[in-house]
Amino acid sequence: MAEKPHSSKSIMYVVIAITVLLLVVALPLSKLGKGSVSVNDSEAAESRIQPVARFDLQREAAPAGDGKPRDGETVYKTVCAACHSTGAAGAPKTGDKAAWAPRIATGVPALVKSVIGGKGAMPPKGGSANLTEEEAKGAVDYLVGKAK
Ligand code: HEC
Repeated sequence: MAEKPHSSKSIMYVVIAITVLLLVVALPLSKLGKGSVSVNDSEAAESRIQPVARFDLQREAAPAGDGKPRDGETVYKTVCAACHSTGAAGAPKTGDKAAWAPRIATGVPALVKSVIGGKGAMPPKGGSANLTEEEAKGAVDYLVGKAK
């Protein structure tokens, strides 16, 4: 019977030790838990960086600082290559003579019109709202030149 207070004391120590351990382990774990809701988190991260990405897109789409028209190659590289270099979205691939021959046969003015107005999966102005007709023609000339 003399041992009873002792053992109940050690049970108390064990309980305290477990409580402390739980606090130490469980707190960071619960934070980890929140961090690992990764879908929401990466969405949140995307929406946080979006303003920056959008700004970059707008800057890229803007005409060259001095307002001068961009030359065909520049327009091609910044606007058109996204689809035409890879053939994405069914775009006739740059330099693919067979794909371009029937289109070239319709004449450059018709091709420029397709670019300005959009055709099939190609958005109007190739998706660059401030593309001028002159720039479109330059880019068409560049594409036609590559497919000859
Ligand atoms: C979003 C992808 C995309 C972008 C960006 C894009 N194109 Fe296209 N382009 C296409 C697709 C797809 C077609 C085929 C359309 C069809 O015939 O249905 C096409 C067709 C064309 C044609 C042939 C049109 C015709 O009448 O047959 C020309 C010329 C052309 N693109 C030039 C350009 C130029 C110049 C740019 C940049 C200013 C550009 N494209 C940007 C997807 C794109």
